Amino acid sequence: MILSRGRYTWTRCRSSSSTTTGFGCSVAPRAAGDGHGGSLSWASDYPVEGRAQELVWDPYLVALAGEYRTLAELEPGFAHGFVPSDPREVGWVARTRARRIPASLRRRLVRRRSVRDWGDAEVAAQMVDLARRELGQTEPPPPFRVFVAAVAGILEQPGITLPVRVLDVGCGVGAYATLLERHFPGSFEYAGWDASTAVVRAARATSPGGDFVVASLLEDAVPAGVDLVLASALIDVLPEPLPALDRLFGAPARFVLLHRQRITEGATRVERAPGYEGQTTYRSLVTIGDIEAIAARHDRRIGRVDHVLEDIFSFLVERVDDRR
Ligand SMILES: C[S@@+](CC[C@H](N)C(=O)[O-])C[C@H]1O[C@@H](n2cnc3c(N)ncnc32)[C@H](O)[C@@H]1O
Repeated sequence: MILSRGRYTWTRCRSSSSTTTGFGCSVAPRAAGDGHGGSLSWASDYPVEGRAQELVWDPYLVALAGEYRTLAELEPGFAHGFVPSDPREVGWVARTRARRIPASLRRRLVRRRSVRDWGDAEVAAQMVDLARRELGQTEPPPPFRVFVAAVAGILEQPGITLPVRVLDVGCGVGAYATLLERHFPGSFEYAGWDASTAVVRAARATSPGGDFVVASLLEDAVPAGVDLVLASALIDVLPEPLPALDRLFGAPARFVLLHRQRITEGATRVERAPGYEGQTTYRSLVTIGDIEAIAARHDRRIGRVDHVLEDIFSFLVERVDDRR
């Protein structure tokens, strides 16, 4: 449908800046300053709003440009000119060209073009960079500021004994372990779980001696003896947020900190969204009603809510029995 509604053009350009035409989707030239940069533009009268462009079309064009580049490398002439706008012709061109690519090379290309996921070492490296930058800022970013405030609140709760044992599920490269040690030295005993081996490897390299394990919220059971389960920007990136929340709130821990979760006033929904560079992930928007209902199923209630930024919030969800 997309191809039949519009027209893709490949234009040569010498500048390193990205180009915007049509309704404005654009991709950066393939290599700044190499004289062969190009930009792929979507020209169409197809109605597109800003959000849809950001969430759907821009990532789509970036992926498409990657495919285009791969073909252009194999067959330089392909980059000059137009892709026919009739989808049947496009299918025919793709099939004919694909048949000319030796099977071994085709397999390599399929591997190369797959979209990065959380298991990708390059994504883990980007996470390390981001965490290093954010932890180095004098003014902490909103998620860190809110986290520190929520955790300080936990330490003031009656019946708390130190060290508070924390399990950070979907821990990433362990930025929250660093924050706990920085703001509350000795008060927390931290362990991190992440489903991605590459991410856990990066976390261990960043904080040698840290307790980081490859484990999944969806497959592994949270052990007894944990006081606080932290899930920061985890449910937010999962394709099925409600079953994941059910597992999270079912953990045998007094506190669950559902941190950095997008909230909606409409129905709970999930969108595909760009993540780190080259990565496509999910963005889940959940209603407070769903959070409360799932919490209640596990005899929990929301004890504290903090606003992080925009539609992103942090919820401290407590076991009802432990409230005094
Ligand atoms: C957006 S990052 C958040 C990282 C960190 N919690 C933070 O707030 O900076 C999401 C992390 O969840 C991990 N992840 C994805 N699915 C998971 C699952 N089912 N169980 C545990 N971790 C998961 C990913 O590998 C990634 O490191």
